[in-house]
Amino acid sequence: MNETPRVALVTGASRGMGAATAHWLAAAGCRIALAARSGEKLEALAQRIEENGGSAIALPLDVADAAQCRRAVEKTLETFGRLDALVNNAGLADPIARVSEADAGQWAYNIGVNLLGPFYLTGAALPALRRSRGRVINVSSGAAHSAIVGWSAYCAAKAGLTHFTRVVAAEEPEVTCIALRPGVVDTDMQAAIRERGADAMEADKWAYFRRLKSEQRLEPPETPARAIAWLALHAPRSWSGEFVEYDDPRIATAAAEAFGGP
Ligand SMILES: NC(=O)c1ccc[n+]([C@@H]2O[C@H](COP(=O)([O-])OP(=O)(O)OC[C@H]3O[C@@H](n4cnc5c(N)ncnc54)[C@H](OP(=O)(O)O)[C@@H]3O)[C@@H](O)[C@H]2O)c1
Repeated sequence: MNETPRVALVTGASRGMGAATAHWLAAAGCRIALAARSGEKLEALAQRIEENGGSAIALPLDVADAAQCRRAVEKTLETFGRLDALVNNAGLADPIARVSEADAGQWAYNIGVNLLGPFYLTGAALPALRRSRGRVINVSSGAAHSAIVGWSAYCAAKAGLTHFTRVVAAEEPEVTCIALRPGVVDTDMQAAIRERGADAMEADKWAYFRRLKSEQRLEPPETPARAIAWLALHAPRSWSGEFVEYDDPRIATAAAEAFGGP
C-alpha cells in the first residue's frame, strides 16, 4: 500500500547534523525543505537528494528573522501540501566570550538563532503540524543544563529551547515536541570552539574539546542525525516535552533498525 510521503522542514541543513538529518529523512522517503543561510549549499544538497530519487527544496533564510521563518513554512506547504516534522537544528555558539566581555549584538543574535528561530518556526508550523499530528524536534545541548564558562548566550538559549519544548508539549496535545542532546559532534561548531575558545573558556574545558578531536572521539554527524530523523518520524506522543539523549537506547536502537547503519 502506498502511503502519502511525509514532509519535513530541517533548519541548519547546509552542513553538519542538519545536512545528515536531511539525508536520513530523504532515504526514508520523506520530502524535505532544507533551510539555512547558505543558499548554494542547500541547492547542492537538494540536487543530491533528487538524484538519489528523493524530493527536496532549498529555502535560504536566516532563522533569526520572523518573516523569513513564516515564509519558509508557507513555501513548504505550497510545495508539498503538508508538514509532518519540523527539525529546529540551526544553531551557533558565538559569542564565545565571558559576560563582562560579550558583545550585546552578538549575544542577542545567538538568542535570535538558537531560541527565537525555533519559536518563529514552531508558531508558523503548528496549524499544519496539528493536522498531521506531527512532531517538532528541537536540537538542544548539554549546555542547557551545564554552566560553561564563556558560553553564556549559548547556555541560556539552549536552556530556553529545552524549556520551550516542555511548554509546547503542554499546549499542543496533537503535536509531539522533543528536545535532544546530540552529543559532542565533529562539525564546524566544534571547530569554532577549538579555534575561538582559548581566551574565554576555562583551560581544562577547552583542552577537553581539543582532546576529543585529536583522539577522534567526536561523534560523526550521521549518528545523532539518525536519532533526530527517527524522532522526527516516530517519536511517541507520550514522550512529548522530554529532553532526550541521542544515544538513549530507546532511540538509538530503533533508529539503527529503521534506517540501517552501524
Ligand atoms: N556539534 C556539537 O558538538 C553540538 C553539541 C550540542 C548541540 N549542537 C547543536 O546541533 C545543532 C547543529 O549544529 P552542528 O554541530 O551541525 O553545527 P554546524 O555544522 O556549525 O551547523 C550549523 C547549521 O546552522 C545553520 N545556521 C547557523 N546560523 C543560522 C541562521 N541564522 N539561520 C539559518 N541557519 C543558520 C548553519 O548554516 P548557514 O551558516 O548556512 O546558515 C548550519 O547549517 C546546533 O543547534 C547546535 O547548537 C551541536
